[in-house]
Order: sequence, then C-alpha cells, then structure tokens
Amino acid sequence: MRKAQVMFDRDFAIGHTDPRLFGAFVEHLGRCVYGGMFEPGHPTADEKGFRRDVLALVKELGPTIMRYPGGNFVSGYNWEDGVGPVEDRPVKLDLAWFTSEPNTFGTNEFVDWCRAAEVEPMIAVNLGTRAGDAARNLVEYCNHPRGTYWSDLRRKHGWEQPHGIKFWCLGNEMDGPWQMEYKTATQYGLVAKEAAKMMRWIDPTIELAACGSSGRNMPTFGRWEDEVLEHTFEHAEFISLHTYFNNYAQDTPAFLACPDLMDQFIDEVVAVADGVAARRRSKKRIMLSFDEWNVWYRTRRRREDRVKEGWPIAPPILEEIYSMEDALTFGGGCISLLNHCDRVKAACLAQLVNVIAPIMTETGGPAWRQSIFHPFAQMSRLGRGKVLQAKVESETYDASYYDPRGAQDLYFPMPQTPYLKVAAVADEATGGLSLFMLNRCLGQEMEVSIDARGFGRLAVAEAHELRHDDLKAVNSKDAPENVSPKPLDGVSVDGGKIRMTLKPASWNVARFSAA
Ligand code: AHR
Repeated sequence: MRKAQVMFDRDFAIGHTDPRLFGAFVEHLGRCVYGGMFEPGHPTADEKGFRRDVLALVKELGPTIMRYPGGNFVSGYNWEDGVGPVEDRPVKLDLAWFTSEPNTFGTNEFVDWCRAAEVEPMIAVNLGTRAGDAARNLVEYCNHPRGTYWSDLRRKHGWEQPHGIKFWCLGNEMDGPWQMEYKTATQYGLVAKEAAKMMRWIDPTIELAACGSSGRNMPTFGRWEDEVLEHTFEHAEFISLHTYFNNYAQDTPAFLACPDLMDQFIDEVVAVADGVAARRRSKKRIMLSFDEWNVWYRTRRRREDRVKEGWPIAPPILEEIYSMEDALTFGGGCISLLNHCDRVKAACLAQLVNVIAPIMTETGGPAWRQSIFHPFAQMSRLGRGKVLQAKVESETYDASYYDPRGAQDLYFPMPQTPYLKVAAVADEATGGLSLFMLNRCLGQEMEVSIDARGFGRLAVAEAHELRHDDLKAVNSKDAPENVSPKPLDGVSVDGGKIRMTLKPASWNVARFSAA
C-alpha cells in the first residue's frame, strides 16, 4: 500500500474556473458532423436533422463552448459555401482530410445546434487560404443586426436575429506545414493582427484568440508565441495551445505521467506571453485558450487511418477507440487544466463525436460513451469554482516520455513524477468541495490522507472511481458500459480530515458538502 498526503486551505486559491474551460470541438472531419451530430433521417433526428440521442449525451458530457468548423479544415474553408439554400450550396474538395465537403451543414446550422445543445459557439476563421476580408465579412454576417449586405443576407437566409458570437479563433495551427498556406510567425502575426483589427471594428464586443504552437514539440515553439504576440498583443485576448497525448512507446507509466508536460507547456506559454507584456511595461495579461486537447495516437500516423481514397463524403476516419488507460491519462489532463485555471480561460476537448471523441455513433444506429467521456463529464459537473493550491506529498517514479517513431526523436525525461495527481475545487456558493485524483501507481493501492483546512465539517455527497482490471478495456456498441464509473467506497470524513483508499491505476472523484 502506498501512502500520500494532501493539504490545502479554503482561502489559498489558484483561481476560479471560467465556464469556457469545459469546452469541446466540432470539425468538418470524418463523421463528426455528418453521421455524428447531424444525420437527417436518423430515427432520433429532429426537424433540423440533429440527432437527439447525441444531443442527450452532449448534455450529459457538459461542454460549455464549442469550437467550429476546424481544425485543419478551416484553413481551406469558404464560409459562404455553407450558408443559404442547401440545394445551392457547392460540393467541394477538402484538402485537409481529402474528402468531399457537401456543405449541407454550415455556420447557421452550427449556431442552431449550439442553441439546442445549450453551448456557446466559438468560431475559427480561415487565415490559411484567406485573410482579413473574409473574416470581417463573416463577423458582419453573424453579428451585425441589419441594414448591410452581409447582415441582410443572414436575415434572408432565415436568421433574423444576429448570432452574437463572442469567441473567435484567428485561424488554426498556422505554424504547421500540414496546414493549407501555413505561415512563418511574422507572416501569420501580420495577417492575424489585420484580421483582428477589422473583426473588432465590426463588433467591439468580440474576444479573439491568436494561434500559438500546435504542440510543445514544434521546432518553433516559444519563438512562435513571442513573435505572434509581438504583432497581436494589443488585438487578442488569448493565445492558443494544442496537445495530443500519445502512447506510441506503449509505456504505460510514461503515458500516465505525460499530462504533467501539459502543466509545463502552460507555464512556458504564460512566461512567453508575460515576457511580451513586460517588454511593453503592460499590465495586460494574455489568457490561454487550450482549444485542442485529448489523447490521440492510434489513428494519427498511418495515412489509411486519416485518409480514405476517392474523395468520399464523411468517411470513418480518426475513429480512435479509447481504453481505460487512455481515460486515466485524459483525467490527468483534466487536473492540469483545473490547476491552471488562473490563465487557461478556455479549453476544448478535441473532438466531440466519432472523431477522436468521447461520443461514438453508428450511422443509422445508436450512440454511446467512450471511456474518456467520464472524466470530462465529472470535471464539467463537479469542477466549477475556486481551485485550491493543493500540496501533495506522494512517492514518485521516473518516466521518460518519447515518441519512438517521431521524426524529431523527441525525448522528455520525467524524473520524480508523483504517483498521485490532484485538483481540489471549492464551491463557494455551497461551501462544498470536489476532489479529482489520479492514482498513477499500477501495482498498489494508495491510502490518501487529506487535510481540508478552513472547510469546517464536511460530509461525503458522492464518490466515484473509474478503473478496470484490464487497462486496455474499451466501450463499444455492444458493451457501452464496460468502462464506466462505480461507487468509490470507504471515503471517511472527520471534520476537515478526509481519508480514502484509491485502487491501482484509477481515476477518482469525490464531492463533499458542508455538513
Ligand atoms: O483534431 C484533429 C486535428 O488536429 C485538427 O484538425 C488540427 O487542428 C490538429 O492538428
């Protein structure tokens, strides 16, 4: 039995979670839109073609904001193709995923879907093949009330009221050679700045995210953020970050440790952004939009998993099947985000349905939850509030996270990784407390003693564990509950002293109410 101690005080906070921390992402990619959230003719489809079974699972998952329409897709997207009478919309080749895009779902349908799902829309503009002119027209189309060409076109299309979209991404992963018309930091910085200026001149209430690095392992990481923010500091509120955890090395301890690299990535981007502020003697703080994050590796490298020949519409690609082990690493990512809620003000689980997603569907058939669904749903439901500075004393292990097939042979030594990773969130309205705990020890249970200072008497409201004897266990259409939360028994509370025993390789969530 391993032992760990956790201590925190109700008055010592990292920050408050922004509702946008619990976002997700929808891209025109594979069966995410078509056959996923949108499937006219499906037995559960509503009059707009939105699958009600998927909507119900989305509400249970609890995302708050939804990024759209890409992703790599957006860098070749002409938004005008996706509005107006459906029969007039063109079918076009999409060079991001080598498919045919029918454009039967576009910006207006997406906004309607967001209203039905009760999430805020977040729109990315194309700064790859296009630039500021198309971006400002889209803002005018979406947000201007009436009396101009673009706003009246929206009204003519059937959306009388402006969409009022607040959060806009200035392109996607513009540092990546895989992107249509990727750019140097100087080129992108100048384009993003001019687009931002015009977009905000049309609607001064919008918030803008500039593209940061598409991964911490990019050769330009750090210098990219520095130069992009040099151009956009006065025009953007956010810089973006993307991370996909992988287990290419099939090294479970390293895979479970790698969310700690997300912590480092965030700290590094904060340092660069604040360095740009320092050069200006500015008090402005650029916030972070972690607008793509997840586990993704099985369907990433092989072209056959990413591309189906013949330019099909909505082929099954990137349909990662998530295991118990993936849910643990994913849960570590949830904890990293919560523990950086002072600077990460938006984050998007990439993606939502079918494509590296928490929700799977069969076209014409049922929908079900993948293993990673559960940590996210618990974080969104129980993780809102004041995140506390938790002091964790846990035994550690040494791991090395690397990509044996990586072009750059990346190698990240991770010495002294604590077995226990924790986030503690106080609910100021009710006096309650939520604990999120990842036990990364594969072979032993862990006895955890928690000193919750300043809370008075607490009582257990609910406690759950997610574990499986087989770390490779998955959910499927026929076994949709194989990996799902069970009650975590034996949580004891004595005043503010909490004790519990965590199973090996487990994700655990406990909620306490003021007694
Ligand atoms: O989410 C899948 C892809 O990953 C996105 O299109 C892109 O932005 C990232 O590289």
